Amino acid sequence: MNIILLGPPGAGKGTQAKRLEQTYGVPQLATGDMLRAAVKSGSELGQQAKRVMDAGELMPDDLMVQMIEERIQQPDCAKGFILDGFPRTTAQAEALDSMLTRHGTKLDAVIELKVDEEALVRRITGRYSCAKCGAGYHDEFHNPQTPGVCDACGGTEFRRRDDDNEATVRSRMEAYREQTAPILPYYETAGILWRVDGMADIDEVTRQIDDVLRRAGALDGGA
Ligand code: AP5
Ligand code: MG
Ligand code: ZN
Repeated sequence: MNIILLGPPGAGKGTQAKRLEQTYGVPQLATGDMLRAAVKSGSELGQQAKRVMDAGELMPDDLMVQMIEERIQQPDCAKGFILDGFPRTTAQAEALDSMLTRHGTKLDAVIELKVDEEALVRRITGRYSCAKCGAGYHDEFHNPQTPGVCDACGGTEFRRRDDDNEATVRSRMEAYREQTAPILPYYETAGILWRVDGMADIDEVTRQIDDVLRRAGALDGGA
């Protein structure tokens, strides 16, 4: 099962990718999470990523392509992967196709989460996650069952992303409109683009994605 979740900041890519990972045992490859790990490590890449992410801009294509090519060759990707946040430009989409061809595989489906931009600003500025296990929460839509205690791991510390403020979110949306949305026709032409209603509630979006995976034949082969 090789799939891409595509959509603007806050569309629910990460939320849905984590659920698919649980259900199908195929890893979520989130380039944003990888970059945040680099920022935390203080590496040179991390320092560059911090500047770019705080500005709501995109990292250079060659760096991102290399990061994904290394990642998909790891053993946990043997049954496939769920790409979240990659590709983000036409150059990345083309590089992905050629690397998959080289590795003797291909994409099963590209799933676009269709959403309303204003609602997204609300989603993102209310978002937080468990500092220990990364489980995602939201001030309005999804708080832990016991206030202040993570449902998944019992952790009591939570954090917010540095780029989740309104000004940076607006820049991230502009980057999506100008650089990422143009790759939709590329996948439409390839006949592998599917759309789901990202404004529906989280469970309903999961149902729609499962339906797409069945119809696209992405669940064949046991994954
Ligand atoms: P990245 O981390 O990928 O951020 P993003 O694309 O801006 O997307 P988000 O993670 O903000 O949103 P999401 O779609 O995952 O939504 P979520 O599920 O959390 O990238 C960050 C930065 O890294 C980029 O700006 C760029 O600088 C750099 N970068 C990354 N990849 C790159 C690449 N390939 N090339 C170059 N640069 C790159 O949901 C949001 C909130 O809404 C949550 O609180 C959730 O609980 C809630 N929610 C989700 N679904 C629903 C629903 N259906 N109803 C109600 N609430 C919902
Ligand atoms: Mg995300
Ligand atoms: Zn936790």
